[in-house]
Amino acid sequence: MKIAIIATALFAIAAPAFAAETVKDSAAVAPVIAADDSLYREFGGHDGLVKLVDDFMVILLDDPRTSVFFVDAKQDHIKKMLVEQFCVVLNGGCTYTGKGMKESHAQLGIDRASFNALVEDLQKAMDKNDIPFHAQNKLLAALAPQHRDIVTN
Ligand code: HEM
Repeated sequence: MKIAIIATALFAIAAPAFAAETVKDSAAVAPVIAADDSLYREFGGHDGLVKLVDDFMVILLDDPRTSVFFVDAKQDHIKKMLVEQFCVVLNGGCTYTGKGMKESHAQLGIDRASFNALVEDLQKAMDKNDIPFHAQNKLLAALAPQHRDIVTN
């Protein structure tokens, strides 16, 4: 319950606030949200992000609301791209080499409920990895506006 409320609230608050910074289907998939690498270090740096994203994919595959999207997808590739993307957002000094969010999700027919489910699952993975609450909120607030390019249904 706590998770659902936070996800919904962040969505409502963060989306308008970040609207001006959202770049339409660019490789710059989300704004960089930290002035230095302190937030990146709170996520455990590269190794922390790899562990987080591994756990995230396990949770996504175990969740009937999201598993249908990921079961036949290139999971290793998606995980690698998520590590890069989170690293960029957290100012960890990486380069994102994947596709833009609009292009990579265009054919998937994702609705708002599925998007919110994925956000909840990311929160679960961050809880499991003891990411501090304030750091969790910063990443979620940066990712929330992506729904404009990802939700097509
Ligand atoms: C803020 C939310 C999201 C972020 C940051 C995100 C990020 C990404 C990234 C980085 C990729 C890899 C792009 C590439 O191939 O280069 C990807 C692909 C993918 N995403 Fe997402 N995603 C989000 C939401 C979702 C949601 C809500 C779903 C489904 C419920 C989803 C399903 C997928 C699938 C199935 C692929 C693989 C598509 C393919 O086969 O090419 N994503 N996503």
